[in-house]
Amino acid sequence: MRGPLLRLAALTALAAAPAMADSPGGRPVKIALPDGEQVYNQICAACHLDKAQGSPDGTVPALAHNAKLADANYPITVVMKGQGGMPWFSEMLTPAQVASVVGYVRTHFDNSYPEPVSEIDVKRIAAQGSEE
Ligand code: HEC
Repeated sequence: MRGPLLRLAALTALAAAPAMADSPGGRPVKIALPDGEQVYNQICAACHLDKAQGSPDGTVPALAHNAKLADANYPITVVMKGQGGMPWFSEMLTPAQVASVVGYVRTHFDNSYPEPVSEIDVKRIAAQGSEE
């Protein structure tokens, strides 16, 4: 009886430690990924792959060396609203996370579009109706 209970207590303590350190106390609706690189690796890389090379069969486009990222409005719109086979992330990611992941792909993977992407840009696009 004592064994499993002790293990459970230890696990609970382990799990609680980081949560107590930085949890705001509410239920997390959005996922907690602090920066664009982590958002990319945890979410985008599932389809666009680790070097943003896209899928070998071409169904997922490469983000690496992609001139369509020059205008930040385009990747923001795709991430917020989805496009074709790409799901939208406006419910999963905060505007700040969308800004940071778009900023990340625009400055990595052989892209160099260093103008910063802000949360304001993301909110502005989110507020627009779907205009093609
Ligand atoms: C479930 C798979 C999937 C995930 C996850 C995904 N994408 Fe995509 N993405 C796609 C597909 C498929 C397309 C092509 C959409 C189309 O135009 O038909 C695409 C297109 C794009 C484009 C447009 C590229 C171009 O050349 O037109 C951008 C930018 C993009 N994704 C960024 C992201 C970012 C940033 C993330 C992470 C937040 C992400 N994607 C996550 C599947 C995915």
